[in-house]
Amino acid sequence: MNVLVINGANLNMLGKREPEIYGRETLDEINLYLKEYAKNKGLKLDFFQSNLEGEIINRIHDAYGSFSYIIINPGAFTHTSIAIRDALLSVGIPFIEVHLSNVYSREPFRKFSYLSDVAKGVITGFGRDSYLMAIDYIARNVR
Ligand code: DQA
Repeated sequence: MNVLVINGANLNMLGKREPEIYGRETLDEINLYLKEYAKNKGLKLDFFQSNLEGEIINRIHDAYGSFSYIIINPGAFTHTSIAIRDALLSVGIPFIEVHLSNVYSREPFRKFSYLSDVAKGVITGFGRDSYLMAIDYIARNVR
């Protein structure tokens, strides 16, 4: 099964960016780890990162017909983007929203998400394991 993992704004800076919040691993290191983990569970992951909202929307549109599931960490677009919400709804691909940090333990503006109510579920606060739990859910429940 093909799963698309999308990371949004500023997640290319992982490793350098506020390591006390986001950890010291780079996005490439996380993705490599996830790819191997998913392979052992019969899932094929593709990865996409962009700091541009429109590029994320285009990538979601292009996923139509070729991916069964999306795992998305939109970064700050979580809290701002009706357009990414609409893109996900327009392709009808089920998705899980993930966050490295626990968005509920931080600034109040991080508590609101434009995606959560239309996501299959939200996993927040477990670092790279947030993605890993999403992979586990898909591997165990989606055929
Ligand atoms: C984040 C949480 C967001 O609030 C923030 O803007 C990010 C990263 C996370 O993974 O914890 O860029 O999505």
